[in-house]
Amino acid sequence: MKKIPFTLLFLGSLFYASAQKKSTDQKVDSVLRMMTLTEKIGQLNQYSGGDDDTGPTTKDGDKHNQIKKGMVGSLLNVTGAKATRALQEIAMQSRMKIPLLFGQDVIHGYRTTFPIPLAEAASWDLPAIERSARIAATEASAAGIHWTFAPMVDIARDPRWGRIMEGAGEDPYLGSLIAAARVKGFQGNGLGNTNAVMACVKHFAAYGAAVGGRDYNSVDMSLRQLHEIYLPPFKAAAEAGAATFMNSFNDLNGTPATGNKYLQRNILKGEWKFSGFVVSDWGSIGEMLNHGNVRDSADAAFTALTAGSDMDMESRCYKNNLATLVKDKKIKIELIDDAVKRILRKKFEMGLFDDPYKFCNEQRENEQRNNIQNLLAAKIMAEKSIVLLKNENNILPLSKNIKTIACIGPLIKAVRENLGFWSFQWQDDTVKIVTVWEGIKNKVSAGTNMLYAKGCGIKDSSRAGFAEAIAAAVKADVVVMNVGEAGDMSGEAKSRSNIGLPGVQEELVKAIIATGKPVVVMISAGRPLIFNYTADNAPAIIYNWWLGTQAGNAVADVLFGDYNPSAKLPVSFPRTEGQIPVYYNHFNTGRPAANDSDVNYVSAYTDLLNSPKYPFGYGLSYTNFAYSNISLDKNIMAATEKISATITITNTGNFAGEETVQLYIRDMVGSVIRPVKELKGFQKVFLQKGESKNVSFTFSTADLRFYNDQLQYNYEPGNFKIFIGGNSVDVKEKEFILK
Ligand code: BGC
Repeated sequence: MKKIPFTLLFLGSLFYASAQKKSTDQKVDSVLRMMTLTEKIGQLNQYSGGDDDTGPTTKDGDKHNQIKKGMVGSLLNVTGAKATRALQEIAMQSRMKIPLLFGQDVIHGYRTTFPIPLAEAASWDLPAIERSARIAATEASAAGIHWTFAPMVDIARDPRWGRIMEGAGEDPYLGSLIAAARVKGFQGNGLGNTNAVMACVKHFAAYGAAVGGRDYNSVDMSLRQLHEIYLPPFKAAAEAGAATFMNSFNDLNGTPATGNKYLQRNILKGEWKFSGFVVSDWGSIGEMLNHGNVRDSADAAFTALTAGSDMDMESRCYKNNLATLVKDKKIKIELIDDAVKRILRKKFEMGLFDDPYKFCNEQRENEQRNNIQNLLAAKIMAEKSIVLLKNENNILPLSKNIKTIACIGPLIKAVRENLGFWSFQWQDDTVKIVTVWEGIKNKVSAGTNMLYAKGCGIKDSSRAGFAEAIAAAVKADVVVMNVGEAGDMSGEAKSRSNIGLPGVQEELVKAIIATGKPVVVMISAGRPLIFNYTADNAPAIIYNWWLGTQAGNAVADVLFGDYNPSAKLPVSFPRTEGQIPVYYNHFNTGRPAANDSDVNYVSAYTDLLNSPKYPFGYGLSYTNFAYSNISLDKNIMAATEKISATITITNTGNFAGEETVQLYIRDMVGSVIRPVKELKGFQKVFLQKGESKNVSFTFSTADLRFYNDQLQYNYEPGNFKIFIGGNSVDVKEKEFILK
């Protein structure tokens, strides 16, 4: 066969893509031309279907009738193929027969619940994270859902903020890669496939920087910090092809994000050329009245639409005011048309105009329940998410032949708690949740005697169960404890000022450690907690987060050595609440501390060590990894060149294991000051016992760019340090000069 030159192929595919787009645009225009103003505004209106309301609802009459009149473009919180079909049938009775979009917060799995996103981020495993989102999309799309309100890509440096559980932690580089992986996972091979759901990147923007970690609170930050730390994951998600964005509840530098033109028009739709649509957060258009930047709900509608919010989730401001605003010539019809077109385009791309019921397939929905492959993937993801924080004298892994094991704590037999916030399974008991107790039971030998004592409740102040727990510990060879937060203690509107172990749980840990038995403490939570007594006194600590449907099986695999833990913290753990925010990529200040306990007129707290309790990137394995022979292929780099850094890593312990090798840089002198470290690369390597491998990272000036005080994104010549290691603190370093 004759070879077609690459350029022709390339031009051909460009032509094909633009022809496709054109034909979709033409279809959109032909629909738009036939629509009345009421129908156009209808497309911008989203209601909650009420199956699981995720905010304060507005009761305003017969939704079915409004759907029939074409006054609703989308619904959220309608569960199941049958229910979505029934509503779509009503939409098909409307004059224009424009299909509804069904949205849902599919945050970490649908039927099969995966670990919470922060836990998945601890895996640093992009293909696994993408797969988790892919499975969630497959299950959700089979239940009639077209659109997930995920990924949440908000950078979070404050663990008091309950929504830290929903994101990928504190780092913009890791966060960007994870954001893109999740978008790809949700959207699969592209919109139009029956197992692809539209991603919705949220919350645009800077929601994670709420003052004091209090949800919905104000955000005030420099534009440089916004661009450098908070926006990169959004940009990465947009570049990965995310279909939609959601704006956020917070005000940013005095303007609520929902009414923020700079964010939505200038950056998102302008600079980034985002062609999808923006949905408001729940009621956030109306909430601008409370913020105080609008006079009334008409002003709110005007401000939000002008700023670039295309769809109104639940506030009714668009529905109640846009028609009058157009008639009074306060809003140009072109502005409405632009928003409507963005939404219609997605409905076309999803194939809903061809078949509005293509996602409502009860048979497919049922096939997805208890799908063995999905459960297995959830277990693997959970194993990859578990962080080993401490393992004194290698007490882990445990032997499966222990004679007596005491399982103690309020979370050992917990069921629903394993799913954490933003999970659906409670609505449907057909997928079994494996508890930690069951996981251990399935793993130990037939001769092992398992003792159980709850010890105390998660939040209660009663110590009445302590005696029974101590008695169980005394009889055991090993004690395994599971303490932590209830599944609804981290999440939306779940900010906490005290992030210690709730109730009397740490006292229980103390009482059990006092028995002198070997104790393994497992902590389940949706955020970094503070547990200094446990950290300093328990010989072994495992951070479980919330692991989902397969929690118990994954935990047991780790406890008994069938999986060697490999996760690394995606966020720093503070020593006390007073140390918050503590993050690895901080500036040096003019008076940096010389060491961890230096308080001599340096930037430090006089009553606290300077380091976090556990640093970003930290996590142990049952084996040990030694780093040696760091080298660079050049010491002076021209701007047109690339530079490679290589390090040898050796498995010096007794188990095969996986290490996440992390590369950080420091730009020593900048026109604006630069952080002491910035993550710029990582690689996961698997090493057999005794095995060594060289790991290389190659980077260019593109990786050395930053925002200067004019918000220009560029590199500057000068001296740089590179650091390579298994976390952000224990690193080997080298220097180079960029000419
Ligand atoms: C949350 C969003 C969520 C929406 C719909 C809001 O309260 O902030 O993240 O997608 O509700 O449930």
